[in-house]
Amino acid sequence: MCGIFGYIGEKEAVPFILEGLKKLEYRGYDSAGISTLDQGKLFLSKRAGKIADLEKQLKKKPIGGDIGIGHTRWATHGRPSHANSHPHEDCQGKIVVVHNGIIENFLELRRELSEKGHKFISATDTEVLAHLIEENFSLPAGPLRREASRQGGDLHKAVTKALKFVRGSYALAVISEHEPKKIIIARNGSPLIVGFGAKECFLSSDIPALLKYVNMIIKLENDETGIITPNKLKIFNSEGKLIKRKRELISWDPESAEKDGYSHFMLKEIHEQPNAIRKSIEGRIFAESHKIHFDELNLSDEEMRNINRVVFTACGTSWHAGLVGEYWFEQFAKIPTEVEYAAEFRYRHPIIDENTLVIAITQSGETADTLGAVWEAKAQNAKVISICNVVGSSIARESHGVVYTDAGPEIGVASTKAFTTQLVIVYLLAILFGKRKGKISDHDATKLINDLIELPTKIEQALYQEKAIEKVAEKFYKATNALYLGRGKGFPIALEGALKLKEVSYIHAEGYPAAEMKHGPIALIDKNMPVVVIALAGRRYEKILGNIEEVKARGGVVICIATEGDFSLAESADEVISIPKSSEALSPILAVVPLQLLAYYIALKRGCHVDQPRNLAKSVTVE
Ligand code: M6R
Repeated sequence: MCGIFGYIGEKEAVPFILEGLKKLEYRGYDSAGISTLDQGKLFLSKRAGKIADLEKQLKKKPIGGDIGIGHTRWATHGRPSHANSHPHEDCQGKIVVVHNGIIENFLELRRELSEKGHKFISATDTEVLAHLIEENFSLPAGPLRREASRQGGDLHKAVTKALKFVRGSYALAVISEHEPKKIIIARNGSPLIVGFGAKECFLSSDIPALLKYVNMIIKLENDETGIITPNKLKIFNSEGKLIKRKRELISWDPESAEKDGYSHFMLKEIHEQPNAIRKSIEGRIFAESHKIHFDELNLSDEEMRNINRVVFTACGTSWHAGLVGEYWFEQFAKIPTEVEYAAEFRYRHPIIDENTLVIAITQSGETADTLGAVWEAKAQNAKVISICNVVGSSIARESHGVVYTDAGPEIGVASTKAFTTQLVIVYLLAILFGKRKGKISDHDATKLINDLIELPTKIEQALYQEKAIEKVAEKFYKATNALYLGRGKGFPIALEGALKLKEVSYIHAEGYPAAEMKHGPIALIDKNMPVVVIALAGRRYEKILGNIEEVKARGGVVICIATEGDFSLAESADEVISIPKSSEALSPILAVVPLQLLAYYIALKRGCHVDQPRNLAKSVTVE
């Protein structure tokens, strides 16, 4: 939800900022802007459109300087336009601000500031920050000025004072002609990371954008502010007290955040799934001793035994991972399990207690609603663990325990490898609880773990179908609607397949439990609407064959995801995409892979911007 990148050092800031913003473009991409300080003077270039448009603008009319902040926007308040693009300025054009988050009381602040004579030119919530800082800025004279600067300077003080009036979430960066040798930053709710080079510092909304330049970082925490100079970061708490924090070493490989020869991150990330799963299970499973171990789970054996209810909470694709998890937890651990949209869970006073385990699933670890759900669960004394892909993210830190997926940075807005690694962790957690609660034998646990060990190779085999899937996409990319059907664990996969298609190709798609089709959606079926059916071998196979017949009898077009060697489906279905045989329990993880590829190739043929679909953002840090 908006990306911030900044530079301060001895080199030209703009090339670094442009490069950084391109990496952050997945967070929002409807407008962009950069402001620099050159010889103490502020310069600004911004516009509606992509970073590439800003880059062109900067080529025609460059701005220089060795300090700068940039922003890529995902509109919340005010449509994408020049005026609404960040950075935003104060009345005198001497203070500029970039912001990620939402200022909830901006209308009230705007009214008060207008009454004091401030002039607003945008419809954004962010602009109030620039004026509020201006309002709180005063440069004392003489010795007081020296003292103010020792304390962090007036600009820092003004930001700290201004933020006392603000309700909402923010990560922000401020530069000013008043104090032209520093960047002031602040965080509450939205991530902000400072990276350290030699006589230069970088500022970013996420870690991958920094990897090309630095591997030592510091994450700003909530309610903290900071002053960045080329050599250092000073951090202050909300009372203005200086805080000491060690730099962290980031071990992510910068290569893995690049496209690596693939035309899109989404495609690269689909192909990375076998290795992402290998890494996510490495060191955590021991098939011979049928052991599963998670370092930071933070639950004693007794606490696990006492858990009598599990609630998964998440948004979007991560919520689908919870839906699959419900089957596994009930099957392996025999614990009643529910799955809740985080935004619903957090506000409906859920009835949970200390024997309830709330599992928050989130790739980014920053999703506002999931974070809110975690707070609510903790307030009700439930045990909270999270499954996150980003180490040290807000949700990971707020939870009692955390299990990290080791998917590496996921850049494509459409979640792929994050989803399958989440599933793998949920599967292992369900087995672990099954063992602790005595519901699963060591023999069965070993079998389930061995099945998982084979999964990455099977996904590699499933990926061999890529060309065949591309051909299927060629036939259906002009469709305007699609239906996805599945039964059992195939149902959440149908939902996920439909979500992937709609978000990247803009084709309207719905996922349904196959049996529900005849209670409504069957009315939609005609020769123009592809029906994608997850028809894998297993307990529900014959029932799903019945559903396929129902579609065919109404002139529908059927694309089946089938188990390798199932030749009978070829007679009824129009297209069959095969995946390798696997245990029934793990089949959903395999089945989603062709659906990801199908969505990708359909979107590609429709000329869609696959990695950055319209209106979306990778990390949804607003409610
Ligand atoms: O970072 P999170 O997993 O918490 O994000 C939740 C959803 O916004 C996310 O899964 C979204 O639905 C996917 N990007 C869709 O592919």
